[in-house]
Amino acid sequence: MTNLTTNLAVVGGGVIGLSAAWRAAAKSHQVTLYDPEPVRGGASWLAGGMLAPITEAWPGEEDVLRLGEESLERWPGFARDLAQEGVDPGLAGHGTLVVAFDSADAGHLDILAGYLHSIGRAAERLTGREAKRLEPGVGSVRSGLHVPGDLAVDNRKLLNALYAACQKHNVRFIRERVEELPDAEAVVLAAGAWTGRLHPRLADAVRPLKGEILRLRPRRGCLPPPSHTVRAVVEGRPIYLVPRGDQELVLGATQYEAGFDQAVTARGVRELIEGAERVFPAITEYELVETAAGLRAGSRDALPYLGALDGSVFAATGHHRNGLLMAPVTADAVVAWLEGEKPPEGTEAASPARLHQEEHV
Ligand code: GLY
Repeated sequence: MTNLTTNLAVVGGGVIGLSAAWRAAAKSHQVTLYDPEPVRGGASWLAGGMLAPITEAWPGEEDVLRLGEESLERWPGFARDLAQEGVDPGLAGHGTLVVAFDSADAGHLDILAGYLHSIGRAAERLTGREAKRLEPGVGSVRSGLHVPGDLAVDNRKLLNALYAACQKHNVRFIRERVEELPDAEAVVLAAGAWTGRLHPRLADAVRPLKGEILRLRPRRGCLPPPSHTVRAVVEGRPIYLVPRGDQELVLGATQYEAGFDQAVTARGVRELIEGAERVFPAITEYELVETAAGLRAGSRDALPYLGALDGSVFAATGHHRNGLLMAPVTADAVVAWLEGEKPPEGTEAASPARLHQEEHV
């Protein structure tokens, strides 16, 4: 597409849809966004806000890492531009500490550290004592891994900032669920876990991945939240604690397949609290202020689907565990599609064309 001004419909008002709508509208495209409950209605409102391609990395997922890093590089500029629109999204550069409690966890960290070193990424292996020196509130850990380059963002400030920026650029919000694709020169499908319902090529490619997540606040006299994002694998289950300054701690997240069920289960809460108690024992004295469950948009290979599905209908979905991280690169890709420019590095591997190839194997 090479129109100077495109009439664009964005389906989905989470972080991906709002980011794409804002960036496109700021380039003078005429944008209408469809969502029955933009900003608060989907997984982005519940996210932990880690922008952490390095600590999410794993051997064999190089395309996910490449795209995540491409987006991480764009994050400071994205946050600065948003702040200039009027609302600061609360980007934090506190890095991540990953901790291990037993020899199995330490083995897992060894694999991650070895892999990161082999591909030249900055990550420092720490003894238990060094990890505790970095983050004195952690439990009695065996070893750690410090990744200074990871960022984090306050997801709720971010979504409010994006909404305000969209309004400033005259994005039209239609608060309805889309049953049929809107009539527009270009359509971007960014409805997260629900996107599979909007296009036959995505029907079996995007699936809901449930995640329960808790928000806690330190009460008077409690140890303040850690100063880094702290991650661990406790009894085989990954958990993370993301500080929101001194006032709040986000504890996430379970991950399993349960269709579109969004009930918070007692087991999910118990697993998170039990895991967190080992990582950061002071958490048991915190006030539990919110329990929630959201649905990540799972893809087949942890890479999103970014690109044309047919004609001028584009997918921007399937971001798996990385929706917030990959919002800037996805929004830039949407603008590039509209303007007939080369999309950002790393997006090619995420083309929905790979679905077609899989179908013909
Ligand atoms: N990005 C972390 C999660 O999906 O739980």
